Amino acid sequence: MREARVSRFPAYRPRRLRRSDALRRLVRETRVAAEQLVQPLFVVPGSGIERPVGSMPGVAQLSVDRAAEECRRLADVGVPAVLLFGLPASKDARGSGATDPHGIIPRALEAIRRAAPGLLLVTDVCLCEYTDHGHCGIVRDGDVDNDATLPLLAEEALAHARAGADIVAPSDMMDGRVGALRRALDAAGFAHLPIMAYAAKFASAFYGPFRDAADSAPQFGDRRSYQMDPANGDEALREVALDIDEGADIVMVKPALPCLDLVRRVKDRFGYPVAAYQVSGEYAMVKAAVARGWLDEGRVVAETLTAIRRAGADIIITYFAKDVARGLGGG
Ligand code: PBG
Repeated sequence: MREARVSRFPAYRPRRLRRSDALRRLVRETRVAAEQLVQPLFVVPGSGIERPVGSMPGVAQLSVDRAAEECRRLADVGVPAVLLFGLPASKDARGSGATDPHGIIPRALEAIRRAAPGLLLVTDVCLCEYTDHGHCGIVRDGDVDNDATLPLLAEEALAHARAGADIVAPSDMMDGRVGALRRALDAAGFAHLPIMAYAAKFASAFYGPFRDAADSAPQFGDRRSYQMDPANGDEALREVALDIDEGADIVMVKPALPCLDLVRRVKDRFGYPVAAYQVSGEYAMVKAAVARGWLDEGRVVAETLTAIRRAGADIIITYFAKDVARGLGGG
Protein backbone atom coordinates (compact mmCIF):
# COMPACT_ATOMS: atom_id res chain seq x y z
CA MET A 1 0.00 0.00 0.00
CA ARG A 2 1.11 3.52 -0.71
CA GLU A 3 0.61 4.76 2.87
CA ALA A 4 3.00 2.10 4.25
CA ARG A 5 5.75 4.65 5.03
CA VAL A 6 4.98 8.17 6.18
CA SER A 7 7.23 10.29 8.25
CA ARG A 8 5.97 11.87 11.46
CA PHE A 9 5.53 15.37 12.74
CA PRO A 10 7.52 17.58 12.64
CA ALA A 11 9.30 16.04 9.63
CA TYR A 12 5.90 15.66 8.01
CA ARG A 13 3.76 18.79 8.01
CA PRO A 14 0.76 18.15 5.73
CA ARG A 15 -0.06 21.87 5.69
CA ARG A 16 3.12 22.58 3.68
CA LEU A 17 1.34 21.44 0.53
CA ARG A 18 -1.81 23.47 1.21
CA ARG A 19 -0.26 26.91 1.10
CA SER A 20 -1.44 28.18 -2.26
CA ASP A 21 -3.89 27.40 -5.02
CA ALA A 22 -1.12 26.42 -7.38
CA LEU A 23 0.41 24.09 -4.85
CA ARG A 24 -2.91 22.51 -3.95
CA ARG A 25 -3.67 21.98 -7.62
CA LEU A 26 -0.24 20.46 -8.21
CA VAL A 27 -0.81 17.68 -5.66
CA ARG A 28 -4.54 17.17 -6.31
CA GLU A 29 -5.27 13.46 -6.70
CA THR A 30 -8.71 13.57 -8.28
CA ARG A 31 -10.01 15.65 -11.15
CA VAL A 32 -13.41 15.96 -12.73
CA ALA A 33 -13.43 16.65 -16.45
CA ALA A 34 -16.39 17.45 -18.66
CA GLU A 35 -15.51 14.49 -20.85
CA GLN A 36 -16.47 12.11 -18.02
CA LEU A 37 -20.01 13.42 -17.66
CA VAL A 38 -23.31 12.22 -19.11
CA GLN A 39 -26.40 14.46 -19.18
CA PRO A 40 -29.79 12.72 -18.86
CA LEU A 41 -32.64 14.12 -20.99
CA PHE A 42 -36.40 13.45 -20.95
CA VAL A 43 -37.95 13.43 -24.40
CA VAL A 44 -41.70 13.85 -24.97
CA PRO A 45 -43.92 13.78 -28.10
CA GLY A 46 -44.88 17.02 -29.84
CA SER A 47 -42.84 20.05 -30.81
CA GLY A 48 -41.80 23.28 -29.18
CA ILE A 49 -42.31 21.74 -25.75
CA GLU A 50 -40.19 22.59 -22.75
CA ARG A 51 -42.10 21.48 -19.65
CA PRO A 52 -40.25 22.11 -16.37
CA VAL A 53 -40.12 19.27 -13.86
CA GLY A 54 -41.33 20.72 -10.56
CA SER A 55 -39.13 18.64 -8.29
CA MET A 56 -36.02 19.15 -10.45
CA PRO A 57 -35.44 22.91 -10.96
CA GLY A 58 -33.50 23.46 -14.20
CA VAL A 59 -34.66 20.15 -15.73
CA ALA A 60 -37.48 20.03 -18.29
CA GLN A 61 -39.22 17.49 -20.46
CA LEU A 62 -38.29 18.37 -24.03
CA SER A 63 -39.94 17.60 -27.35
CA VAL A 64 -37.67 16.05 -29.98
CA ASP A 65 -36.86 19.40 -31.65
CA ARG A 66 -35.98 21.04 -28.33
CA ALA A 67 -33.96 18.03 -27.24
CA ALA A 68 -31.96 18.26 -30.44
CA GLU A 69 -31.23 21.95 -29.79
CA GLU A 70 -30.23 21.17 -26.21
CA CYS A 71 -27.90 18.46 -27.47
CA ARG A 72 -26.17 20.91 -29.77
CA ARG A 73 -25.59 23.19 -26.75
CA LEU A 74 -24.30 20.26 -24.69
CA ALA A 75 -21.84 19.31 -27.41
CA ASP A 76 -20.74 22.96 -27.65
CA VAL A 77 -19.81 23.13 -23.95
CA GLY A 78 -18.00 19.80 -24.09
CA VAL A 79 -20.46 17.29 -22.63
CA PRO A 80 -19.66 14.12 -24.60
CA ALA A 81 -22.80 12.07 -23.99
CA VAL A 82 -26.51 12.16 -23.21
CA LEU A 83 -28.70 9.49 -21.61
CA LEU A 84 -32.11 9.53 -23.25
CA PHE A 85 -35.41 8.69 -21.54
CA GLY A 86 -38.52 8.60 -23.70
CA LEU A 87 -42.12 9.28 -22.73
CA PRO A 88 -44.53 7.71 -25.24
CA ALA A 89 -47.74 9.31 -26.53
CA SER A 90 -49.74 6.52 -24.89
CA LYS A 91 -49.04 3.70 -22.48
CA ASP A 92 -50.35 0.14 -22.26
CA ALA A 93 -49.83 -2.99 -20.17
CA ARG A 94 -47.11 -4.33 -22.45
CA GLY A 95 -45.26 -1.05 -22.92
CA SER A 96 -45.65 -1.21 -26.72
CA GLY A 97 -44.17 2.25 -27.14
CA ALA A 98 -40.81 0.89 -25.98
CA THR A 99 -40.37 -1.46 -28.93
CA ASP A 100 -41.91 0.79 -31.61
CA PRO A 101 -39.26 1.40 -34.30
CA HIS A 102 -40.89 4.81 -34.87
CA GLY A 103 -41.34 5.51 -31.17
CA ILE A 104 -40.14 8.50 -29.21
CA ILE A 105 -36.52 7.35 -28.73
CA PRO A 106 -35.88 6.32 -32.36
CA ARG A 107 -37.27 9.70 -33.48
CA ALA A 108 -35.15 11.54 -30.93
CA LEU A 109 -32.04 9.62 -31.99
CA GLU A 110 -32.47 10.62 -35.61
CA ALA A 111 -33.05 14.31 -34.83
CA ILE A 112 -30.22 14.55 -32.31
CA ARG A 113 -27.80 12.76 -34.61
CA ARG A 114 -28.44 15.46 -37.22
CA ALA A 115 -28.13 18.32 -34.73
CA ALA A 116 -25.07 17.04 -32.82
CA PRO A 117 -23.28 14.44 -34.93
CA GLY A 118 -20.39 13.73 -32.55
CA LEU A 119 -22.41 13.40 -29.34
CA LEU A 120 -22.60 9.90 -27.81
CA LEU A 121 -26.23 8.85 -27.61
CA VAL A 122 -26.97 6.48 -24.74
CA THR A 123 -30.51 5.13 -24.42
CA ASP A 124 -32.18 3.91 -21.26
CA VAL A 125 -33.70 0.49 -21.96
CA CYS A 126 -36.65 -0.14 -19.66
CA LEU A 127 -40.41 -0.53 -19.82
CA CYS A 128 -41.50 1.63 -16.87
CA GLU A 129 -41.92 4.82 -18.91
CA TYR A 130 -44.08 2.90 -21.39
CA THR A 131 -46.31 0.67 -19.25
CA ASP A 132 -49.64 1.93 -17.88
CA HIS A 133 -48.91 0.18 -14.56
CA GLY A 134 -45.47 1.83 -14.34
CA HIS A 135 -43.48 -1.34 -13.64
CA CYS A 136 -40.24 -2.17 -15.44
CA GLY A 137 -41.59 -5.39 -16.97
CA ILE A 138 -44.66 -7.39 -17.90
CA VAL A 139 -46.99 -7.94 -14.95
CA ARG A 140 -48.57 -11.35 -14.39
CA ASP A 141 -50.66 -12.22 -11.32
CA GLY A 142 -49.49 -9.05 -9.60
CA ASP A 143 -45.81 -9.84 -10.10
CA VAL A 144 -43.28 -8.68 -12.69
CA ASP A 145 -42.58 -11.68 -14.93
CA ASN A 146 -38.82 -11.77 -15.44
CA ASP A 147 -38.44 -14.13 -18.38
CA ALA A 148 -41.46 -12.82 -20.29
CA THR A 149 -39.94 -9.33 -20.09
CA LEU A 150 -36.54 -10.24 -21.57
CA PRO A 151 -37.60 -10.46 -25.26
CA LEU A 152 -39.32 -7.07 -25.01
CA LEU A 153 -36.21 -5.44 -23.57
CA ALA A 154 -34.13 -7.03 -26.34
CA GLU A 155 -36.56 -5.72 -28.94
CA GLU A 156 -36.42 -2.25 -27.38
CA ALA A 157 -32.62 -2.25 -27.45
CA LEU A 158 -32.69 -3.34 -31.08
CA ALA A 159 -35.07 -0.51 -32.00
CA HIS A 160 -32.62 1.92 -30.38
CA ALA A 161 -29.62 0.33 -32.11
CA ARG A 162 -31.30 0.49 -35.52
CA ALA A 163 -32.14 4.16 -34.96
CA GLY A 164 -28.51 4.98 -34.21
CA ALA A 165 -27.90 4.61 -30.46
CA ASP A 166 -24.20 4.51 -29.55
CA ILE A 167 -24.68 2.68 -26.22
CA VAL A 168 -27.73 0.92 -24.76
CA ALA A 169 -28.28 1.03 -21.01
CA PRO A 170 -30.70 -1.52 -19.53
CA SER A 171 -32.13 -0.19 -16.23
CA ASP A 172 -34.96 -2.66 -15.61
CA MET A 173 -33.08 -5.03 -13.24
CA MET A 174 -34.58 -8.21 -14.72
CA ASP A 175 -32.23 -11.18 -14.27
CA GLY A 176 -30.53 -12.18 -17.50
CA ARG A 177 -31.35 -9.05 -19.46
CA VAL A 178 -27.77 -8.15 -20.36
CA GLY A 179 -27.33 -11.56 -21.97
CA ALA A 180 -30.67 -11.24 -23.76
CA LEU A 181 -29.67 -7.84 -25.15
CA ARG A 182 -26.17 -9.01 -26.13
CA ARG A 183 -27.50 -12.03 -28.06
CA ALA A 184 -30.17 -9.99 -29.85
CA LEU A 185 -27.71 -7.23 -30.77
CA ASP A 186 -25.06 -9.68 -31.99
CA ALA A 187 -27.58 -11.59 -34.11
CA ALA A 188 -28.77 -8.37 -35.76
CA GLY A 189 -25.33 -7.09 -36.72
CA PHE A 190 -24.69 -4.89 -33.69
CA ALA A 191 -21.86 -6.90 -32.13
CA HIS A 192 -19.90 -3.63 -31.84
CA LEU A 193 -22.56 -1.80 -29.81
CA PRO A 194 -21.60 -1.42 -26.12
CA ILE A 195 -23.94 -2.18 -23.22
CA MET A 196 -23.80 0.02 -20.15
CA ALA A 197 -25.62 -2.06 -17.53
CA TYR A 198 -27.37 -0.56 -14.54
CA ALA A 199 -25.71 -3.43 -12.68
CA ALA A 200 -25.99 -2.48 -9.01
CA LYS A 201 -29.25 -0.57 -8.97
CA PHE A 202 -30.93 -0.15 -5.62
CA ALA A 203 -34.61 0.31 -4.78
CA SER A 204 -33.87 3.87 -3.71
CA ALA A 205 -36.04 6.65 -2.30
CA PHE A 206 -33.79 9.02 -4.26
CA TYR A 207 -35.58 8.21 -7.56
CA GLY A 208 -38.69 10.11 -6.43
CA PRO A 209 -38.28 13.21 -8.63
CA PHE A 210 -37.37 11.06 -11.66
CA ARG A 211 -40.78 9.47 -11.51
CA ASP A 212 -42.32 12.93 -12.02
CA ALA A 213 -39.90 13.66 -14.84
CA ALA A 214 -40.49 10.34 -16.61
CA ASP A 215 -44.08 9.88 -15.47
CA SER A 216 -43.15 6.35 -14.42
CA ALA A 217 -44.30 5.86 -10.84
CA PRO A 218 -45.57 2.30 -10.26
CA GLN A 219 -49.38 2.33 -10.02
CA PHE A 220 -49.34 -0.43 -7.41
CA GLY A 221 -46.67 -1.85 -5.15
CA ASP A 222 -43.04 -0.84 -5.53
CA ARG A 223 -39.87 -2.02 -7.27
CA ARG A 224 -38.35 -4.01 -4.40
CA SER A 225 -38.91 -7.37 -6.10
CA TYR A 226 -36.45 -6.42 -8.84
CA GLN A 227 -34.29 -3.51 -7.64
CA MET A 228 -31.81 -4.24 -4.87
CA ASP A 229 -32.14 -3.82 -1.12
CA PRO A 230 -29.92 -0.84 -0.16
CA ALA A 231 -28.59 -2.96 2.73
CA ASN A 232 -26.78 -5.38 0.41
CA GLY A 233 -23.23 -4.71 -0.75
CA ASP A 234 -22.00 -8.25 -1.42
CA GLU A 235 -25.08 -8.90 -3.52
CA ALA A 236 -24.24 -5.79 -5.56
CA LEU A 237 -20.91 -7.37 -6.46
CA ARG A 238 -22.71 -10.55 -7.55
CA GLU A 239 -25.05 -8.47 -9.72
CA VAL A 240 -22.06 -6.77 -11.34
CA ALA A 241 -20.29 -10.11 -11.88
CA LEU A 242 -23.40 -11.50 -13.54
CA ASP A 243 -23.75 -8.54 -15.88
CA ILE A 244 -20.06 -8.68 -16.85
CA ASP A 245 -20.40 -12.38 -17.48
CA GLU A 246 -23.37 -11.71 -19.77
CA GLY A 247 -21.49 -9.09 -21.77
CA ALA A 248 -21.74 -5.72 -20.05
CA ASP A 249 -19.02 -3.31 -21.22
CA ILE A 250 -19.62 -0.61 -18.61
CA VAL A 251 -21.15 -1.31 -15.20
CA MET A 252 -23.17 1.21 -13.28
CA VAL A 253 -23.76 1.79 -9.59
CA LYS A 254 -26.89 3.75 -8.73
CA PRO A 255 -27.57 5.95 -6.78
CA ALA A 256 -24.12 7.53 -6.40
CA LEU A 257 -23.48 9.26 -3.06
CA PRO A 258 -25.32 6.63 -0.98
CA CYS A 259 -23.23 3.92 -2.69
CA LEU A 260 -19.68 5.27 -2.82
CA ASP A 261 -18.44 2.17 -0.99
CA LEU A 262 -19.76 0.05 -3.85
CA VAL A 263 -18.30 2.27 -6.54
CA ARG A 264 -14.93 1.58 -4.92
CA ARG A 265 -15.52 -2.15 -4.42
CA VAL A 266 -16.75 -2.63 -8.00
CA LYS A 267 -13.78 -0.71 -9.42
CA ASP A 268 -11.25 -2.62 -7.31
CA ARG A 269 -12.81 -6.03 -7.86
CA PHE A 270 -13.51 -5.93 -11.59
CA GLY A 271 -11.41 -3.15 -13.11
CA TYR A 272 -14.14 -2.45 -15.64
CA PRO A 273 -15.27 1.02 -16.63
CA VAL A 274 -17.59 2.08 -13.81
CA ALA A 275 -20.40 4.60 -14.16
CA ALA A 276 -22.10 6.18 -11.17
CA TYR A 277 -25.52 7.78 -11.50
CA GLN A 278 -26.08 10.88 -9.39
CA VAL A 279 -29.86 10.48 -9.44
CA SER A 280 -32.82 12.83 -9.43
CA GLY A 281 -33.15 12.91 -5.63
CA GLU A 282 -29.48 13.73 -5.17
CA TYR A 283 -29.96 16.62 -7.61
CA ALA A 284 -33.21 17.78 -5.99
CA MET A 285 -31.66 17.74 -2.53
CA VAL A 286 -28.87 20.08 -3.59
CA LYS A 287 -31.25 22.36 -5.52
CA ALA A 288 -33.65 22.62 -2.58
CA ALA A 289 -30.92 23.59 -0.12
CA VAL A 290 -29.40 26.04 -2.60
CA ALA A 291 -32.80 27.69 -3.17
CA ARG A 292 -32.98 28.35 0.59
CA GLY A 293 -29.50 29.80 0.61
CA TRP A 294 -28.25 26.95 2.80
CA LEU A 295 -25.61 25.55 0.46
CA ASP A 296 -23.30 26.96 -2.20
CA GLU A 297 -24.30 25.16 -5.39
CA GLY A 298 -21.01 25.35 -7.28
CA ARG A 299 -18.95 24.10 -4.37
CA VAL A 300 -21.35 21.38 -3.33
CA VAL A 301 -21.69 20.03 -6.86
CA ALA A 302 -17.92 20.06 -7.37
CA GLU A 303 -17.42 18.27 -4.06
CA THR A 304 -20.00 15.56 -4.82
CA LEU A 305 -18.60 14.87 -8.29
CA THR A 306 -15.06 14.79 -6.94
CA ALA A 307 -16.11 12.34 -4.23
CA ILE A 308 -17.76 10.09 -6.82
CA ARG A 309 -14.59 10.16 -8.93
CA ARG A 310 -12.39 9.58 -5.87
CA ALA A 311 -14.50 6.50 -5.04
CA GLY A 312 -13.51 5.08 -8.41
CA ALA A 313 -16.11 6.12 -10.99
CA ASP A 314 -14.85 6.67 -14.53
CA ILE A 315 -18.14 8.07 -15.76
CA ILE A 316 -20.69 10.20 -13.90
CA ILE A 317 -24.28 10.50 -15.04
CA THR A 318 -25.54 13.75 -13.56
CA TYR A 319 -28.24 16.36 -14.14
CA PHE A 320 -25.53 18.94 -13.40
CA ALA A 321 -23.43 17.90 -16.42
CA LYS A 322 -24.15 20.95 -18.57
CA ASP A 323 -23.65 23.46 -15.75
CA VAL A 324 -20.43 21.79 -14.67
CA ALA A 325 -19.06 21.61 -18.22
CA ARG A 326 -19.86 25.30 -18.67
CA GLY A 327 -18.10 26.13 -15.42
CA LEU A 328 -15.14 24.02 -16.44
CA GLY A 329 -14.48 26.40 -19.27
CA GLY A 330 -16.57 25.02 -22.11
CA GLY A 331 -18.10 28.48 -22.68
C1 PBG B 1 -35.99 3.39 -15.13
C2 PBG B 1 -35.06 4.32 -14.45
C3 PBG B 1 -35.22 5.01 -13.24
C4 PBG B 1 -34.11 5.82 -13.10
C5 PBG B 1 -33.29 5.58 -14.19
N1 PBG B 1 -33.89 4.66 -15.01
C6 PBG B 1 -36.35 5.02 -12.30
C7 PBG B 1 -36.61 3.86 -11.45
O1 PBG B 1 -35.96 2.83 -11.52
O2 PBG B 1 -37.58 3.96 -10.68
C8 PBG B 1 -33.87 6.79 -11.96
C9 PBG B 1 -33.01 7.96 -12.31
C10 PBG B 1 -33.09 9.10 -11.38
O3 PBG B 1 -33.72 9.04 -10.29
O4 PBG B 1 -32.52 10.14 -11.71
N2 PBG B 1 -36.18 2.16 -14.53
